[in-house]
Amino acid sequence: MSFFAYDATGDMQAEGVALKTIAGQVGTPFYCYSAGALRAAWQEFAVAMRGMNASVCYALKANSNLAVVKLFGDLGAGADIVSVGEMRRALAAGIPAKKIVYSGVGKKPSELMAALQAGIGQINVESSAELETLNAVAGQLGVKAAITIRVNPDIDAATHEKITTGRKENKFGIDIDLAREAYTLAGKLPNLQVVGVAMHIGSQLTTLDPYRDAIARVRGLITQLRADGHRIDRFDIGGGLGIVYADEQPPSVASFLQLVAKETDGLGCELTFEPGRRLVGEAGVLVSEVILVKPGVSRTFVVVDAAMNDLIRPTLYEAWHDIVPVRRPRPDAATIRCDIVGPVCESGDYLAQNRDLAALSAGDLIMVRSAGAYGAVMASSYNTRPLAPEVLVDGTRFAVVRPRPSIDEMLSSERFPPWMEPA
Ligand code: LLP
Repeated sequence: MSFFAYDATGDMQAEGVALKTIAGQVGTPFYCYSAGALRAAWQEFAVAMRGMNASVCYALKANSNLAVVKLFGDLGAGADIVSVGEMRRALAAGIPAKKIVYSGVGKKPSELMAALQAGIGQINVESSAELETLNAVAGQLGVKAAITIRVNPDIDAATHEKITTGRKENKFGIDIDLAREAYTLAGKLPNLQVVGVAMHIGSQLTTLDPYRDAIARVRGLITQLRADGHRIDRFDIGGGLGIVYADEQPPSVASFLQLVAKETDGLGCELTFEPGRRLVGEAGVLVSEVILVKPGVSRTFVVVDAAMNDLIRPTLYEAWHDIVPVRRPRPDAATIRCDIVGPVCESGDYLAQNRDLAALSAGDLIMVRSAGAYGAVMASSYNTRPLAPEVLVDGTRFAVVRPRPSIDEMLSSERFPPWMEPA
């Protein structure tokens, strides 16, 4: 079922709400999320995990809007966080501290302290230096920190180079060949309690082979670690399952979980999954209005009011997002080849290049698909452009779940130094 579809009159709907209605009330650009699509994506995991000793910690980095996090939390999700800011969001959305997993390559002592004070369930440690720091911080607080070590299995996830994480040359995790030493150190540190092992090999994976290879390697490690006397009760598989942007055919959640169940069979580990993109990516769109159309000698530019500051994926990762008009074009409408660009003063400011679209004119609305993950969270206010608001639709209801800040609000957090104040 598609949660974003044209109705009988040709208007694009998010569930039961016309996007043009939201645009009329909220203005453009805006992000729009479908609660039904979020629940459906969650349900795929919930159904496929039945009977498995496994849980999902939603990776907040993909979309950390409080309403989105609460929707998953209410369905039973834990959280995968990479900062104290994300921890505060997970807690504010009602996710119990015990269901929070803290990942990240550079956690500061103050952040580790805040995490331990909040009582979060598991810290995925990524270096020997972090083991020492965490041990010291836990000692100060008089607690034992439950940890896994994130290992880097040196697997090529065959995804974009900026989002692959499981190769030796990436900064993440501890090289699998050095992992036993790290566990030996962890075992000696009195304020740490080793509970398992973690991995995350990359994002937007569209085949299962890298998972199979990585799990096989980590499985071998788990056997060694147990022989060394460590308790390995949990295996955190990470996130990374891909979605459809263009014509990808990512594996189903069911087949992914089947593969994991098979490859971990007999290990006796409780499994953790940290999906981000797969839960939210296809559940969100970015809606924008055409400001003007500028025919050029070599190409036509459709200038819209969303820009690279709102959605940076096209320029940062050469990501391809499907773009459709919010008003369905007539079947016989002629198409033009165009670049969809924003108003920001950079040539990298585009949402799409060389796209064939039915002719657009000023005032038309467009919808950028698969923008629910790594969209709003990666936005900035470059060029003093207010962050695009976020809207959640649920059936025939919708609500603004993050309003657009006014320019006055944006300026109000800045100040002149005392020596510049007017006399
Ligand atoms: N767990 C860890 C430790 C991670 O580093 C990540 C993502 C996830 C889970 C969630 O991965 P997912 O299921 O969403 O693939 N900004 C990039 C993606 C960066 C992903 C970073 N780590 C993009 O827009 O494609």
